Amino acid sequence: MDKFVIEGGRPLYGEIEVQSAKNAVLPLLAAAVLTEERVAIHKCPRITDVLNMAQILCELGCKTKFEGDTLVIDGAQAANHEIPAALAKELRSSVFMLGSVVARFGKARIAYPGGCDIGLRPIDLHLNGLRRLGVSVTEDGGYIDCTCEEIEGAEVVLDCPSVGATENIMLASVTARGTTVIRNAAKEPEIVDLQNFLNCMGGKVAGAGTSTVIIEGVKKLHGAEYTPIPDRIEAGTFLIASAMCGGELTLHNADADNLASLLHKLREISCKITAKDDKIYIKSGMRFSPKIIETSPYPGFPTDLQAPMCALACICEGSTVVVENLFETRFKHVPELIRMGADVTVRGRSAFIRGVKALHGADVFASDLRGGAALTLAAISAEGLSAVSDLSYIDRGYSDFEYKLRSVGARIRRVRV
Ligand code: UD1
Repeated sequence: MDKFVIEGGRPLYGEIEVQSAKNAVLPLLAAAVLTEERVAIHKCPRITDVLNMAQILCELGCKTKFEGDTLVIDGAQAANHEIPAALAKELRSSVFMLGSVVARFGKARIAYPGGCDIGLRPIDLHLNGLRRLGVSVTEDGGYIDCTCEEIEGAEVVLDCPSVGATENIMLASVTARGTTVIRNAAKEPEIVDLQNFLNCMGGKVAGAGTSTVIIEGVKKLHGAEYTPIPDRIEAGTFLIASAMCGGELTLHNADADNLASLLHKLREISCKITAKDDKIYIKSGMRFSPKIIETSPYPGFPTDLQAPMCALACICEGSTVVVENLFETRFKHVPELIRMGADVTVRGRSAFIRGVKALHGADVFASDLRGGAALTLAAISAEGLSAVSDLSYIDRGYSDFEYKLRSVGARIRRVRV
């Protein structure tokens, strides 16, 4: 259980290169199963979620290797349809494999997926969507079994715009017989990226980014090379870090359009932000309270930036209400922030934050990925010495997190415990 040891209170100056989006890469890796040909994902981040997903591909019989920062997948020999429980439990995105594995082999078996403990996280929409496509789905003893002769295009109406369910149904239906229409689809940029990737492989997908995605089934997909979109959540994390610590940062490989809801809030609290081409520049300001942060599906404020934003609101002038609309138990960072001097009360899905002048150093514990990032930001902005454990959560989604923060002036080092 590694930890960060952090001496806080230094402003951040410099430039940071943003990684490719974790949430784009994971469904692309599931899509790689759909072809026997070579797939190359350029600028692929070496985060543990990606490494675990690559391990799942190996279990299925694919060959995977990093060539520099390109992850190459060769699915010619893939023959297995079962994803072992130990790997499925490592990450929620293992569930994407249901769609692509059943599409390729006509059967798939997977243990219930794990992932960060931020709420109930059911997968009923994934399974009902597959059933609509003619897949027989049975659940028994903690495993899900899918079988079908042929996947048939159908209309799938989602009860809520689930990102994962939209992607899973796209993966299952891209080589189906006939056309699939997903209504009330999620509109996240990562879904557009999956559409673009599937089309690079010879798929016929349209409408991603709107609430209706149309997938015209094709007979076969071929190999592809692809560079995923920048990680808007990693970029947002560094922008919030800058707002908390002071200084001036320029992010490279960042997409301001995909971060509009965060940039709006950061400007409101008096940060100066400019965006040009793939760069975002931020100079932090007075830190007035953002007043209200309410998470919602894209293009609303992302739930994945809720925890970092809570950390920022803790040191803003005035009070902030943070409402978490997507996940039931996504405030586990709050008791840790309180250990650092924050003044926060959580009632149900809302956190009431009264800003203090500064946080102070403390030993704190991450219990999920974005909560861990939030505690790291709190520590680099705080007065004094902190330790942030357990880094296995942060390593799931941020590549070289401490190196990037150190390169812009933070005093942070990893200690192996
Ligand atoms: C994805 C992201 C995650 C982000 C989340 C919301 C990936 C790999 N992960 O997760 O980082 O926090 O979107 O933006 O892309 N729901 C159901 N039944 C289902 C599926 C979902 O009720 O079958 C509910 C969930 O409980 C939640 C809401 O739908 O309340 C949204 O979840 P969803 O969009 O599916 O999130 P994920 O795809 O798991």
